Amino acid sequence: MTDHVEGEPASDAGEAEGLAPDSDAGEGRRNFLTGASALAVGALATLAPIGAAVAAILDPLRRGDGETDLVLVTRLSAVPEDGTPRKFTVTSDLTDAWATYADAPVGAVYLRRVGEGVRALNVVCPHAGCFVGIAPDGSRFACPCHRSSFDLDGVVNDPSSPSPRDMDALDVEIRNQDEVWVRFQNFLPGREDKTPV
Ligand code: FES
Repeated sequence: MTDHVEGEPASDAGEAEGLAPDSDAGEGRRNFLTGASALAVGALATLAPIGAAVAAILDPLRRGDGETDLVLVTRLSAVPEDGTPRKFTVTSDLTDAWATYADAPVGAVYLRRVGEGVRALNVVCPHAGCFVGIAPDGSRFACPCHRSSFDLDGVVNDPSSPSPRDMDALDVEIRNQDEVWVRFQNFLPGREDKTPV
């Protein structure tokens, strides 16, 4: 009787002091693991589209095979006949992980007539990525950030220019006699070679 009476409270005490807290701890661990798993799955689900979006931003026109498509930039009649460079915004339909954007700006180029053809230069400076401008007298390109200087063909023409390479030339095609199509690409700044982004 005494053992029974004393044992029951001991047993209860065991549940109260040992089993119940262990059970709570087990429940806590399960909740923690369930929460952590949900967070991990949620993070992966979030990171995948972010990665796709970042890739789209860095190289908006790159196809699945790594090449970039030509995009229609302007009409030939909009490019000055006297060889003066003119800046044009490049737009394209963009699709990221969340939406499609029609005619979104993806960059800019200088177009310049040379003979019967047109040459295109990416406006981004190969030194550190600023936008290159045209010198006030129109005789050359000049970067406002660290004073790199390029001739109208985009070639570095001042040995003190910090740019490690010439401006990035882009492929151009004239289609249907009046359409200027450009294979628009961005390249890593700060390198001597043209490495696509
Ligand atoms: S970014 Fe153009 S000179 Fe530095």
